Amino acid sequence: MALNLDAVGKKLGPVTKDYNWKDVVLYALGVGAGFSDLEYCYEKNLKVIPSFSIAAIFDFLSHYASNSNINLAGILHGEQDLIFHQPIPVEGTFTTEGKITHMYDKGEKKGALVIGESDTFHSNGKKLFTSIITLFSRFDGGFGGDNAPKETFTFPDRTPDFEIEETPSQDQPLLYRLSGDVFALHVDTEFAKMAGFEKPIMHGLCTYGFSCRALVQCLVPGEPDKVRRLKCRFSRTLFPGDPIKIQIWKTDENTAVWKTINAKSGETVINNGIFEFGDIPKKEIRFDDQVAVITGAGGGLGRIYALELAKRGAKVVVNDLGGSRDGSGGGSATPAEKVVEEIKALGGEAVANYDSVSTPEGGENIVKAALESFGTVDILINNAGILRDKSFIKMEPENWLTVLDVHLNGAFNVSKPAFKVMREKGFGRIVMTTSAAGLYGNFGQTNYSSAKMGLVGLMNTLKLEGQKYNVKVNTVAPIAASRLTEDILPPELFDKMKPEFVSPLVLYLCSSECDANGNIYNAGMGFFNRAAVVTGPGTTIGDGDNPPAIEDIVDNFDTIASLTNGKVYFELNEQVGDAMNAFSAPEKTDTAPAEQKTASASAIFEAMPNAFNAEAAKDVDVIFQYHIAGSGGGDWNCTIKDATCKINSGIHEKPTCTLKMADTDFVDMINGVLPAMQAYTSGKLKIEGDIMKSQLIEKLFRLN
Ligand code: NAI
Repeated sequence: MALNLDAVGKKLGPVTKDYNWKDVVLYALGVGAGFSDLEYCYEKNLKVIPSFSIAAIFDFLSHYASNSNINLAGILHGEQDLIFHQPIPVEGTFTTEGKITHMYDKGEKKGALVIGESDTFHSNGKKLFTSIITLFSRFDGGFGGDNAPKETFTFPDRTPDFEIEETPSQDQPLLYRLSGDVFALHVDTEFAKMAGFEKPIMHGLCTYGFSCRALVQCLVPGEPDKVRRLKCRFSRTLFPGDPIKIQIWKTDENTAVWKTINAKSGETVINNGIFEFGDIPKKEIRFDDQVAVITGAGGGLGRIYALELAKRGAKVVVNDLGGSRDGSGGGSATPAEKVVEEIKALGGEAVANYDSVSTPEGGENIVKAALESFGTVDILINNAGILRDKSFIKMEPENWLTVLDVHLNGAFNVSKPAFKVMREKGFGRIVMTTSAAGLYGNFGQTNYSSAKMGLVGLMNTLKLEGQKYNVKVNTVAPIAASRLTEDILPPELFDKMKPEFVSPLVLYLCSSECDANGNIYNAGMGFFNRAAVVTGPGTTIGDGDNPPAIEDIVDNFDTIASLTNGKVYFELNEQVGDAMNAFSAPEKTDTAPAEQKTASASAIFEAMPNAFNAEAAKDVDVIFQYHIAGSGGGDWNCTIKDATCKINSGIHEKPTCTLKMADTDFVDMINGVLPAMQAYTSGKLKIEGDIMKSQLIEKLFRLN
């Protein structure tokens, strides 16, 4: 059975993998870490061995094999390259997507190479690493493709600069396999013998992990986050218990070459190793050719946003009415003009606008200023603000409404015309300005708090409306010395509270680099954190058909009120979904098996002739024997010949291949819950006889 050449270029994944500190530690133990490098094994200040990343995406790697149709009996891990873009966090979710990039033909009987490349992102939104894997297939050569380009590799002609000895234990694979690669070859002597080895062998990636630890120890001690690249070729198998030596030559400031040898036989087990290390090169965030509108930019925080954006290439509309702190009296052009002059003196481009944000016409004019002067708008920071503090009892409607007009209605008035432009061009970044007073409350500021929390509501929905158009909306809650805070903050703190401590976060939220959408961040004095609406897991009371009594609420109030294990919803539907599922989810589980069409092994074999794809079976002549264990199991055989399919219960005398599985795993596999490749590599599916022919099954039947 040939390689599926059509698989080249087709998207694989996304495949997600949740992990926590225990997975990180388990991996470290699997690659030989212990008390001598406790930082990899103890949750306190835990560090991640970078090669953990490839073990953690093992489920994704199996897609390369299943999609390429590679002959599993002859598959070997040929080469592995890992390029690290960001440090690996100690917990979270990995999401991996990739594709098969090449299939090379080494020739008949010489084998083939299947090369796959993937990118893995973390739940923190960052791209963490790129993996380039080469699978060597012993039996798939001779399909008429090109051979791989030749690569040359030489080690320096001197003794290694570093040499580290390690002795993986006799039981090492038993521990390592718990990190994902549970392939029987590394644990089952019978299976190993079938594959041509006298006993189970070490996982190549386990030896790779040992090597990675040694490289970190020698070149970036205590700083695994500085590993930038780890590449190698797997050249020989290693048996558990054999000692190894990792030999390292430093070739320049940030690069080393390395190999790992079997210290007993002298054979090289990992060859052509490349190790790159150092700090992550920082990418400068620029705003060239982008147009930013900043309201209330004549002073305080807005002025700094305007100056910093202009310094990094943005063209800026400096809006400011030039009013008093409480918004009373007339305006003045001076503050906005002064900031424009400052920007021009720095060599930047800016125009002033003096409209008030508090009317729809004012909002239109501000955006018009951007369109007329610079042709577009990419960035909007809704920053203009006033204060009219009074205790609630003394709060007159005018003071209430005026504050809402500047903060909340002001953001609506400017965002609406700006959002229209952003939606049309398919890019936009909007930053709202809230306040700790709104998020948490502050005596005497009911008007201001309400307006500031209203902005969070505006963000929550606008983020959804802009999502499709790459318009991201986030919110900052600043703390900075300005005229708004001069009578609240002690003067000695003014220097520590410069707006410059807030602007880096706001500028990041304005940049195309920022993927965050719908988040709130506190920023000030060099301290940054995220604020969010957290919803507790809650509880159901009663049966969901009859309303509970008030007394039942009292009995359960602590559980209702608890935020332990709470979550942050991105949108309303998620919360409503949880409420609706609170009662229906358990019922579903109870009824699900009865509803499933293929709920038992016997039902699956009954359905098989109907699911048979005669078209795909034209030249196929094969007999599959199934031994399904468990109370729902039995023996069935399936004869496929002349594009027909016959299912019989019992044992066939001469099956082409025999598949052995537990009944529940078999049902899961047919229902798509357990991928066939994973079933095989995990040992849940055992195949005897012609393994290659077993790969036909997925093509010959469509059971879902
Ligand atoms: P600021 O008073 O220095 O700046 C606000 C600017 O908005 C002023 O230049 C003012 O002329 C302008 N403005 C007022 N009404 C306007 C209108 N109708 N149209 C156009 N411009 C108008 O104050 P600061 O501290 O720089 O505040 C900026 C934003 O940050 C405000 O929204 C404020 O509520 C918010 N904030 C500030 C905090 C701080 O610690 N400074 C704390 C929490 C929030």
